[in-house]
Amino acid sequence: MFRLLVLAAMMGATMMPSGVQGQTGQVHASGLAIVPLPVEVKPAAGRFTITSATTLIATGEAVTEARMLQEMLAPAMGFCLPITDGAAPRDGAIALILDAGLKKLGDEGYMLEVNGQRVVLRAAKRAGLFYASQTLRQLLPPAIFRRARVDGITWTVPCVAITDHPRFAWRGLHVDPARHFIPKSAVLRFIDAMALHKFNNLHLHLTDDQGWRIEIKKYPKLTEIGAWRDETLIGHAGKEPHRFDGRPHGGFYTQDDIREIVRYAADRHINVLPEIEMPGHARAAISAYPELGCNPGERLKPWTRWGVCPDIFNADDATIAFLQDVLTEVLELFPSKFIHVGGDEAIKDQWKASPAIQARIRELGLASEAELQSWFIKQMDTFLTGHGRRLIGWDEILEGGLAPGATVMSWRGEAGGIAAAKTGHDVVMAPTTHTYFDYCQGPRETEPLAIGGDLRLHKVYEYEPIPAELDEQQAKHILGAQAQHWSEYISNPRHLEYMAFPRAAALAEVVWSPKGQRQYDAFLARLSSHLQRLDVLDVSYRPLD
Ligand code: ACM
Repeated sequence: MFRLLVLAAMMGATMMPSGVQGQTGQVHASGLAIVPLPVEVKPAAGRFTITSATTLIATGEAVTEARMLQEMLAPAMGFCLPITDGAAPRDGAIALILDAGLKKLGDEGYMLEVNGQRVVLRAAKRAGLFYASQTLRQLLPPAIFRRARVDGITWTVPCVAITDHPRFAWRGLHVDPARHFIPKSAVLRFIDAMALHKFNNLHLHLTDDQGWRIEIKKYPKLTEIGAWRDETLIGHAGKEPHRFDGRPHGGFYTQDDIREIVRYAADRHINVLPEIEMPGHARAAISAYPELGCNPGERLKPWTRWGVCPDIFNADDATIAFLQDVLTEVLELFPSKFIHVGGDEAIKDQWKASPAIQARIRELGLASEAELQSWFIKQMDTFLTGHGRRLIGWDEILEGGLAPGATVMSWRGEAGGIAAAKTGHDVVMAPTTHTYFDYCQGPRETEPLAIGGDLRLHKVYEYEPIPAELDEQQAKHILGAQAQHWSEYISNPRHLEYMAFPRAAALAEVVWSPKGQRQYDAFLARLSSHLQRLDVLDVSYRPLD
């Protein structure tokens, strides 16, 4: 019922008097409601109509993007636009042109020009053509997102000239298949939704106390044992006594699944960032291989509840070698320049209590457990740098000294990110305050069970990833921002979509659109049209208040 009311409100929004408000195209009631807001939108009179007689023009590498556009348009249109070889726009055609002259718009920027006779997508790189195609899709009626032929629609696009490029290079969403496994099909679907919003980094949190989710050929027990837990906590972890559901939960991605996910994402210009957690959040791995832990005589099982688990890897050479073996397979699967090694919430009680660890600290000439964690991460930093990659970790990796090549993902507020940027390290902003999408997005009493928090749409929209205390040079180290979907309380893909959208649409503007052009009310007006697209796509977003 609530959903119906929201739909009615949305219909009202699209029936506003047609017209254009402002040169930026903030609101264009005839359907020009592009999310994220482009840098410059100059609407013009008239429309271009796509029919079965329209052709796509492309040559060289642009053909790949033309094929992608062809695939995006064909199901709903019911015809497949032919691709003709060429690099010059022509009447009656949609041309996709790689043009080195557009380098000033960066690797992801593009121009999209629609007039009554033709459509031209131009970019220096393929990614730009892909984003121009995403924008073009949003200029069409929402029915374009249907997956079967829609009769009785004229596929027209309003005339417009758009120049666009992202504000930040890192535009990310994180998902957590470790706590509740996310089936591969749902990951692919999430990637489609990301592409629509011009996100370019999918952070996969693959290992944690409650589950190990990636096949590692050299260590099969990681998934034979580590991917399955006996049961799961019912309700909130803070509510005692704890009760459990008595049902096994698990799953993992085979290496072929990972290859499929990575390729599918790459085709949509999305990098997949793998996270292999260490030294904490290690219980599933230690369950599989007890010699990795601090109490090797103890037989553990993957954790069945939520919170910060005390089980932590030991710091033996063999454990470092084990983790580097894991990373070796990870590097083969993920072309990502960055590899995430976690580093967060590694409570040191077991290190403090273990005579072997204390001896190790002395042997390495270290002063504390914090320095041992720093040493641990440095082993991985050296390894990854030696393989031509870069380490990224949660901001705890600053404690005890940051590894030389490390990039910091700042989650406990922005302080870690600020400290890292000031010392010349790159940073991805991911603070709980604005980007923890596992937090409630309305009053707790009326929202589904969540970890807690209160992070509403407007607050996400108002986020500014560059802290005021950074100077211009330091600010360059802020690569961008991303939202986190920790899944203790997100047990299925529809709930993941509910937590992600529409907040991800707001974050998409934070990381893509020019800061000075962002206005929440104008965003809401565009969003009301945009939600019609998500309705067609059956994205199970949280309705607007
Ligand atoms: C985190 O939320 N523990 C990074």
